[in-house]
Amino acid sequence: MQVLVVGSGGREHALAWKLAQSPLVRKLFVAPGNPGTASIATNVPIRADDLEGLARFAAEQRIELTVVGPELPLALGIVDLFQSRGLRCWGPSRAAARLEASKAEAKEFLRRHNIPTARFRTFSASQDAIAYIRELAGPCVVKADGLAAGKGVTVARHSEQAIEAVIRIMEKHEFGREAGARVVVEEVLRGEEISVFAFCDGHNAVLLDLAQDHKQVFDGDEGPNTGGMGAFSPVPGLVSGPAMDEIVRRILVPTMAGLVHEGRPYVGLLYLGLMITDSGPKVIEYNVRFGDPECQTLLPRLSSDLAEVLLATLEGRLDRIELSWDPRTAVCVTLASGGYPGKFPTGLPISGLAEAEAAGALVFHAGTALKDGQLVTAGGRVLSVVGRGVDLEHARQIAYAGCDAIQFPGKHCRRDIGRRREARRRP
Ligand SMILES: Nc1ncnc2c1ncn2[C@@H]1O[C@H](COP(=O)(O)OP(=O)(O)O)[C@@H](O)[C@H]1O
Ligand SMILES: [Mg+2]
Repeated sequence: MQVLVVGSGGREHALAWKLAQSPLVRKLFVAPGNPGTASIATNVPIRADDLEGLARFAAEQRIELTVVGPELPLALGIVDLFQSRGLRCWGPSRAAARLEASKAEAKEFLRRHNIPTARFRTFSASQDAIAYIRELAGPCVVKADGLAAGKGVTVARHSEQAIEAVIRIMEKHEFGREAGARVVVEEVLRGEEISVFAFCDGHNAVLLDLAQDHKQVFDGDEGPNTGGMGAFSPVPGLVSGPAMDEIVRRILVPTMAGLVHEGRPYVGLLYLGLMITDSGPKVIEYNVRFGDPECQTLLPRLSSDLAEVLLATLEGRLDRIELSWDPRTAVCVTLASGGYPGKFPTGLPISGLAEAEAAGALVFHAGTALKDGQLVTAGGRVLSVVGRGVDLEHARQIAYAGCDAIQFPGKHCRRDIGRRREARRRP
């Protein structure tokens, strides 16, 4: 079959890399892709949010399966558009993607279906939000309603910080007018934060192995949040069997049933952002796609044929699918541009990729470009360097050997990816 992957980051390079190994995939395209995907597929210069352009390309090239990486095209309704043209597109419909596209709607969905989450109120006028925050007179969380590239949430230690966040979102429109038209103000949850991923075919779900990411830019979880500085999988001991049963029973099943009940069954990959609190698991947020960089640790560990799994989700056959996993540990380290997540330069020459691969690392491109035949930096997160090993330490060794082999001016990475659990276990 001919397959098109939509997107251009490390997650999409990993999706393309895994799909390229499937005997079902005869020809692979990535739109718009990056220099990494160009080495395993044909890049097509169509932006991920140009739905019309993508649909036209898919029809002309007789693409039989389109796989969507990022949230934006899903929120814009790429799946609905493709379906209306008789094209098969893997991911949730526009209506189901509202779970990520609107935090206010997601919270109302959670409330309607009695799914555990932080107590909250939503506001469409800044003065009302501010009055409520003053009334709370303590820590709270302020969230911009719409897509904000992971920057729209403030966990505020006190009212002044929360009020500042409301002003940035609703008055200064830092995330645009639409994303900032409403805010959610919610209670601060305490506990262990985890992400759970499931393939869903509308009615059935299959859980993936656990992965954990590192959001802060510096070692020891210091500094500002980023798109993700690294991840590792599996995460033994993170969630016990009974705790996972509770997550399935109280969160995953009612989420899928609630969406069916509302006429928007969920097809694709569902990402549950959870806090394991003293009173059980609670939903922090939903995402409607793979996490990046978690995806870069999960797909290299997935032994099953990804194309077959994706087809099963589209055809409602997930009840007959069991995923098999490579028992090795995978560690993904993000090589970032100096200055990221703040301002950073681009266009700087990158070298050492072949050496990194010779050291056993898998290298997925995230923010790279080709300039006169030279690979250069083109984003904040430049490369995802993945090591696979018999245990966490071995996987870390390979990933960091890869990181050390690669050079570009200002290169920055965290040195403690995968070490979080060990740090926590220390008394
Ligand atoms: N109610 C909450 N209590 C404690 N921490 C929270 C809460 N809501 C969000 N957070 C923290 O803020 C981060 C970002 O919030 P999230 O809702 O996942 O939005 P996004 O990923 O879109 O930025 C979470 O990963 C979590 O660490
Ligand atoms: Mg999140």
